[in-house]
Amino acid sequence: MTTDSPVTVTREGDLAWVTIDNPPVNATSTAVRKGLAEAVNAVQGARVAILTGAGRTFVAGGDMSEFDAPPVEPHLPDVVQMIEDSETPFVAVLHGTVLGGGFEIAMACAWRLAQAGTRFGLPEVNVGLIPGAGGTQRAPRLIGMEASIDMAASGQMLDAATLKALGGLDLVFEGDLQAAAREYVADLPERPSKVSERVTEPLAADALEVKREAVLKRARGQMSPLLNIDALQWAYLPFSEGQPKERALHLELRQSAESRALRHAFFAEREVARPKAAAGAAPRDLQRIAVVGGGLMGAGIATASLGGGLEVVLIERDADAAASARDRVAGLIDGAVKRGKLSEAKAAEQKARFTATANYADAAGVDLAVEAVFEDLEVKRAVFRQLAEVVSPEAILGTNTSYIDPREIFEGIPNPARCIGLHFFSPAHVMKLLEIVALPETSAEVLATGFAFGKRLRKVSVLAGICDGFIGNRMLAEYRRAAEYMLADGALPQEVDAAAREIGFPMGPFELQDLTGLQIAWANRKRQAATRDPAQRYVTIADQLCEMDRLGQRSGKGWYDYVEGDRKPRPSAEVESVILDYAQAQGITRRGFDREEIVTRILAVLANEGARIVEEGIAESDAAVDMVQIHGYAFPRWRGGPMQTAAERGWTEVGDTMRRLAGESPDSWVLSDRATGN
Ligand code: NAI
Repeated sequence: MTTDSPVTVTREGDLAWVTIDNPPVNATSTAVRKGLAEAVNAVQGARVAILTGAGRTFVAGGDMSEFDAPPVEPHLPDVVQMIEDSETPFVAVLHGTVLGGGFEIAMACAWRLAQAGTRFGLPEVNVGLIPGAGGTQRAPRLIGMEASIDMAASGQMLDAATLKALGGLDLVFEGDLQAAAREYVADLPERPSKVSERVTEPLAADALEVKREAVLKRARGQMSPLLNIDALQWAYLPFSEGQPKERALHLELRQSAESRALRHAFFAEREVARPKAAAGAAPRDLQRIAVVGGGLMGAGIATASLGGGLEVVLIERDADAAASARDRVAGLIDGAVKRGKLSEAKAAEQKARFTATANYADAAGVDLAVEAVFEDLEVKRAVFRQLAEVVSPEAILGTNTSYIDPREIFEGIPNPARCIGLHFFSPAHVMKLLEIVALPETSAEVLATGFAFGKRLRKVSVLAGICDGFIGNRMLAEYRRAAEYMLADGALPQEVDAAAREIGFPMGPFELQDLTGLQIAWANRKRQAATRDPAQRYVTIADQLCEMDRLGQRSGKGWYDYVEGDRKPRPSAEVESVILDYAQAQGITRRGFDREEIVTRILAVLANEGARIVEEGIAESDAAVDMVQIHGYAFPRWRGGPMQTAAERGWTEVGDTMRRLAGESPDSWVLSDRATGN
């Protein structure tokens, strides 16, 4: 065995200890696979080989950085087979997260022991793949088809107790791995049959159909969940037939656009967490924060911060408002308990770290204050003036504004290096995205602290520069504009929404507006009317609907009609006639838009605006734009975001589409350099 191998074999009497040591997560890199193959030879002659992972986990998956290149020998399925066929039987002693290739290796061992709390998964589906080393073939034989579908098609993790109950583990132990292993191998049971040679009970056709329907519904166009179900069905064939089929499909999927996109999303999440603008700066430690304003957003931000272990003081306008804010936060925490997301004990502990008050002086000593009061410049300015008087001159000041220029909000505040935008998305305790907005004066240390704050709250934080709507809402505005132009020119709301769902959005732009209500955007448009470029085409259909009190689901009608007690949007004859009348009054000859044309336009407009945002330096990279869209606007992760989609479909398509849009609506679209081919 090579001395620098990440896999070591130590003989001790009739035992052989095999340890995989490839930090951080013992991924099955080429060196690990090679080391394991050598280890199988080295353990021969021993009574039993004990396989463990060094550090905090057993093998937690493959090495994704190797996935773009052709696979290198020895291949994982061959190594796994060697372990299963080894004369000296293997016992896997598992801890941490046993994922993907890790679980495949474990299933090839004669026995499996796991430390209590160990978690198991076949998460290949999350990167657009199926397992490639017998996972889909051994799992049904070991734990049955139903649980295997949950793992491989839905990416569900199982805990050790559940896996044991399903027959997937021989022992769950508390405490030390070595001690548990020694005790178990001292009196080994008879070697069981190889998992690959077992037969799995067929799942009843109707039960399979139920599973397939559920997976299909959640997939929103992603292929790999269903392909995992297909591959699992090959476990009814002899292993010698099913396993090569699995391997072939796994290798084919590595080259798929879907897998590329999901891998892009995986790496993009890591990339955006380390913005260049904060490079080298160490974040400050945060303990106690203030949230000012305890309405919809403030309550969510406070809840998320409590979840991140911070002490939170929430400041409201008066005692009554403070009391309602306290109830709102308690309600959100209790809701998490009801949904099984939080234990009673943790909930009580979070509430103990929370106070709501009407007294700004209670914010003295906080490390950070986040403002989420009304979207009004003067109100926000007054809040920061009051805060600046009670907090230390170093305390970080953050605003959750959606549209107001933070430079105006913070004008005149001493030490502007500590000022920052912290733009959460509604509901703030649920939505993953946090746009961190840098002012020209914001220091790198403050930015780094903003990112550390986001991480504690388990957000995906993305750095944004200052412009109207920052990254996400600026793109949303263009998307909506494109959708409204299509309505005027010939499409109907239900056609645009259906196309958006075909892209993989859970909802189209009009259904979504009905859900959230049309009034806020209406108020926004009225405010923007004075500064809007008069040359830009402006479609008034939405304004007309608002004037008709069609304000969305809550008013019983919006872009669609609703019947009492049912949220299902029904195409509205009234809305259609508003649209037709509008077109006629404007002298527009309406024409049909087919699904593909609408899809192409939505994707092109998002990519074009994303490119402009990167070209202007508002976002640091395409990856940042993609993360904003995936985590804040439900852009389908399996497409990797609008920039990744444009890269796959080709920027020529974006350019051609944008030129067509610009031809139809002159002076209304600004083409990015990338769309024009510069
Ligand atoms: P909201 O109206 O639900 O809550 C605002 C709260 O601020 C109210 O409870 C009010 O009593 C309190 N408040 C007003 N003046 C105050 C003062 N001087 N001191 C202390 N508290 C004061 O509004 P919402 O929706 O929570 O929005 C708050 C901010 O978050 C706005 O800037 C908005 O643009 C931004 N935002 C809103 C999002 C949304 O989806 N609603 C999404 C992202 C950001």
